[in-house]
Amino acid sequence: MAVKKLLLVLLFCSFSLALPAQSIAIMGALDQEIAILVDSMGRSRKVTKGGIDFYKGKLKGKKVVILKAGVGKVNAAYSTAILTQNFKLSSLIFTGVAGGLDPEALPGDLVIGEKLVQYDFGKVDSLGFAVSPFRKLAGGLHDELYVESDARLILISQEAARRVEFLPIANRQPKVFSGVIATGDIFVSSNEKANWLYTEFDALATEMEGAAVAHICRTLGIPFIVIRSCSDNANNNARMNFNQFVGPASENSARLVLAILDGME
Ligand code: ADE
Repeated sequence: MAVKKLLLVLLFCSFSLALPAQSIAIMGALDQEIAILVDSMGRSRKVTKGGIDFYKGKLKGKKVVILKAGVGKVNAAYSTAILTQNFKLSSLIFTGVAGGLDPEALPGDLVIGEKLVQYDFGKVDSLGFAVSPFRKLAGGLHDELYVESDARLILISQEAARRVEFLPIANRQPKVFSGVIATGDIFVSSNEKANWLYTEFDALATEMEGAAVAHICRTLGIPFIVIRSCSDNANNNARMNFNQFVGPASENSARLVLAILDGME
């Protein structure tokens, strides 16, 4: 009996050793958005696959892989595809800056993305642009307009946000919102477009990658969360505010990522 037990233990150990441990992927679109996290790893190993640099190491005691996706939905989808082909992932966190859309939100405020929407996927006819209400995912699934983030990661992010000491931006302590993030291949710098995204999609922030990553994670069943820190308000002053606040806003988003990692088992 004891020999049988020992054999079972040995079998279990060799089986778990054969399985590579899963990593938490952390993605950002820009160098600034991932630099703080790569530096926080201390020791890391860089591997390059499909032209994308992956930084492997540990953060908050968790095995992570960090990468720069590049700007826009195609770059984000490409990097996510290369990532998921080469690494076993337990979850994915997308971090970075965005344009705030809620009239209450100011540069510096953060948005935890409960749902993601591709706002520029649709048709144009004589009546103008209409967003497509359904999308067929490449994996064969049908999806609705919004892709939902992982419910557990939303909760962990909201709890983590209460523990973070954020950098003040524009002499003000950032607030944290949770809601819809709207993704499109456009840097929005227009009062009119920002208002359209807020009213049409109920979106609190706009950026250029989140929904593409969400779409792939949903197809592959990878739990994900997108968190964003507003560098601007996607209004007529967006470019100026972006240049001014992209640094501290990226730092605040990275601080939230570290707190989220702390909150994950
Ligand atoms: N990322 C940061 N600000 C943005 C904006 N205004 N539009 C799109 N992406 C952004």
